[in-house]
Amino acid sequence: MSRLVAVSNRVSSVRGAPLAGGLAVALVDALRENQGLWFGWSGKTVDETSQTPTLTREGEVTLATVDLTHDDHEAYYSGFANRCLWPLFHFRLDLTGYDRGHFDAYQRVNQRFARSLLPLLREDDLVWVHDYHLFPLGSELRRIGVRQRLGFFLHIPFPPRELLTTLPQHQTLVRALFDYDLVGFQIEDDVKRLAAYVEQDLGGKVGPGWMEAFGKRLRIEAFPVGIDTARYHDFAFSSHGQREWIRLREFLRGREQIIGVDRLDYTKGLVRRMNAYELLLDSQPDSHGRITYLQIAPISRGEVTAYQDFRRELEQHAAGINGKFGQVDWVPIRYVNEAIPRRRLAGLYRASRIGLVTPMRDGMNLVAKEYVAAQDEKDPGVLVLSRFAGAAQQMGEALLVNPYDTEDVASALERARTMNIDERRNRHQALMRGLLDEDVSNWRQRFLGALKQND
Ligand code: UDP
Ligand code: G6P
Repeated sequence: MSRLVAVSNRVSSVRGAPLAGGLAVALVDALRENQGLWFGWSGKTVDETSQTPTLTREGEVTLATVDLTHDDHEAYYSGFANRCLWPLFHFRLDLTGYDRGHFDAYQRVNQRFARSLLPLLREDDLVWVHDYHLFPLGSELRRIGVRQRLGFFLHIPFPPRELLTTLPQHQTLVRALFDYDLVGFQIEDDVKRLAAYVEQDLGGKVGPGWMEAFGKRLRIEAFPVGIDTARYHDFAFSSHGQREWIRLREFLRGREQIIGVDRLDYTKGLVRRMNAYELLLDSQPDSHGRITYLQIAPISRGEVTAYQDFRRELEQHAAGINGKFGQVDWVPIRYVNEAIPRRRLAGLYRASRIGLVTPMRDGMNLVAKEYVAAQDEKDPGVLVLSRFAGAAQQMGEALLVNPYDTEDVASALERARTMNIDERRNRHQALMRGLLDEDVSNWRQRFLGALKQND
């Protein structure tokens, strides 16, 4: 059997609790089932780096990590990846920075990653590269002689051609995709957006499952990432989950809780979400003292200005709502920057009547799936989900909302709050069926199965 080599900028311990966002969570779950190698950044920044990766064994999985220099961290990670590609691919031209020096650093780090990975590769490895930090890695690996099968998966949305073409290096970036044997996007809409670019801007050809341009043929498909549904459900009822559930129920004393769990990121729609909650409180005075909103928002990419500005705005917002409605014995919003381990989170989800997931744009959104998986099927909560999260394509039985429309979100909250048990159970059952069918192991098998196939 071929060995799986996963490559991503962010690498997380397979044993411990990954807190680093959807990519790490999905890969930990996928790698746990495979003896494999996981290569990427150590998370450390140093003055000078060595090309040789540090190897750590964690059960069946080997982690191979390299450090970044301070300059590369600033220009490649904070710069090109998070000041340019992240906002651009989430349709936020207003926050996108264009800097040729950052792009050069991006290429340089990808070259360095390729050279560090090369000596670790075996002949029959399947190499699976992940996310927007590493578009050029496949080309760099090919350049230095790698002939193994190479796959690439993009965890974030792919932007419309009108936005993509604002990037001076748009062709270089897309050309890099054509050096992989297989490319996976989250949803069909992402594939269609690349197809429009290939046809209209490159004069290429597009058919079902393939695209042709630069004299090459690319295989591409949507592979929506899933969670380890059965295991996550068990978390919520394990000793950790149960303890958290009991503690929270005691604290809530009969109040219904809305829960939001997001990295502190401007794509997650947190300010508008708070506006919708405020509107609910304004329009439903009977909810005062009976409902409470817990927002968990661990700090992310704190060195990037857009994130600092956003954090300040959000803090003011939460404080404003608490000031306006709060009572001596009732705080309407509990806003927490602490990162919570996954097993504890499962108990918190289970104790919450409403899961509120309203990104303005999101590749998939695993929180939406985890919230549903953690529910007690006898008395499940209700998921309110943005139609602009990839997850909405698979989770039609959630209350789907337009996060730009405050009234729409507020009325979905009211509907969720007052939904009867039969409707809650029916919706939950249908959602759970989908999550069990399309779980993380199905995602991994579908992608790797397709990668192994001949063209
Ligand atoms: N997460 C966590 N603890 C936290 C906040 C988030 O473990 O305090 C996890 C969360 O459970 C989910 C992931 O981080 O598995 C976030 O993934 P998602 O796809 O929702 O968003 P992303 O961060 O990738 O944009
Ligand atoms: C999203 C991205 C991942 C990234 C994660 C956390 O899930 O798709 O690639 O790892 O956010 O962000 P960070 O910048 O801390 O790695």
